[in-house]
Amino acid sequence: MRAITVDDEDAHRNLTVADVPENPLAAGRVRVAVAAAGVNRADLLQRAGHYPPPPGASEILGLEVSGVVQDVGPGVTDWSPGDAVCALLDGGGYAERVDVPAAQLLPVPAGIDLVDAAALPEAACTAWSNLVDVARLQPGETLLVHGGSGGVGSFAIQLGVALGARVATTAGGPERVARCRDLGAAVGIDHRTQDAVAAVRAATDGRGADVVLDVVGAAALGDNVRVLATGGRLVVIGMQKGRRGELDLGALLTKRASVAGTTLRARPLDEKAAIVAAVRAHVWPHVEAGRIRPVVHARVPLAEAARAHTMLESGEAFGKVLLTT
Ligand SMILES: NC(=O)c1ccc[n+]([C@@H]2O[C@H](COP(=O)([O-])OP(=O)(O)OC[C@H]3O[C@@H](n4cnc5c(N)ncnc54)[C@H](OP(=O)(O)O)[C@@H]3O)[C@@H](O)[C@H]2O)c1
Repeated sequence: MRAITVDDEDAHRNLTVADVPENPLAAGRVRVAVAAAGVNRADLLQRAGHYPPPPGASEILGLEVSGVVQDVGPGVTDWSPGDAVCALLDGGGYAERVDVPAAQLLPVPAGIDLVDAAALPEAACTAWSNLVDVARLQPGETLLVHGGSGGVGSFAIQLGVALGARVATTAGGPERVARCRDLGAAVGIDHRTQDAVAAVRAATDGRGADVVLDVVGAAALGDNVRVLATGGRLVVIGMQKGRRGELDLGALLTKRASVAGTTLRARPLDEKAAIVAAVRAHVWPHVEAGRIRPVVHARVPLAEAARAHTMLESGEAFGKVLLTT
């Protein structure tokens, strides 16, 4: 089958289309004919050699796809050839076909285009597991989403609103902030020109945010603790601006606050399966009711994967970039 491979010999680690062999379909797995693959920042890191796939995962880039079930392995009873699906992957999405553990498949939500569905699994599973399982976001609470303009952030804004939270968000530049407001954010903050702590305090009568979902990392740690309300929960999921920061334990103790960090890809199969099942049960109804929609910046042919990576690197993308087969 055709797949995108990384040229390790090349200084730019060029992406090229190659014919790669397929393994026999293993028990408990489903073979999906890929319609589209979502592009994630992790793909850029893996391409650069900084994010090796977990043991046993495909070396091919790609953490999420949509498509049609082509075949099911022994023991799979929940899915049949012809089903329209999307899937959370451990790797292997930048290809014509991918084999997925059956428990990491989701049906394409009613009313969602098959290609656009590739924008959903990684963002939905990341947003749900962190906002609900980790941070225990409650209706009426204030949620600060950093990077509301990103693939995860554009979903997290909508999920926060659907869960009854009041959402504040940061994005780079007034146009991107305005688009975040269109997604439901009550408070939009331009991180290039505004102080997020002051803006959130002003919008909450000085209380601060009950939950912060952070994609920035070390550079934002101090402000993220400062902006927390009493009892607040900070969940760090990205380290775009550094991995080591100074934590003000005094502030944390005084606020009875907590700081957590998670990654989705490294979780074992049973945890991913539980998250996927919860997303299907609790998030898909919001998508099918139109309260949450995939935010797709561009569809790019699979063979032009390098161009799709440039869209993410340059910061021009709002929402998700998809590769179509
Ligand atoms: N831990 C996990 O399980 C997990 C899962 C998925 C993703 N992630 C990580 O989460 C991060 C976001 O993923 P993504 O798919 O949403 O990436 P993305 O689509 O490329 O978006 C990146 C976002 O970061 C924002 N950003 C950059 N610098 C910022 C700053 N100083 N202050 C506030 N926002 C800033 C960007 O905002 P502007 O462009 O508007 O400036 C943009 O919204 C990445 O680091 C990714 O690796 C982690």
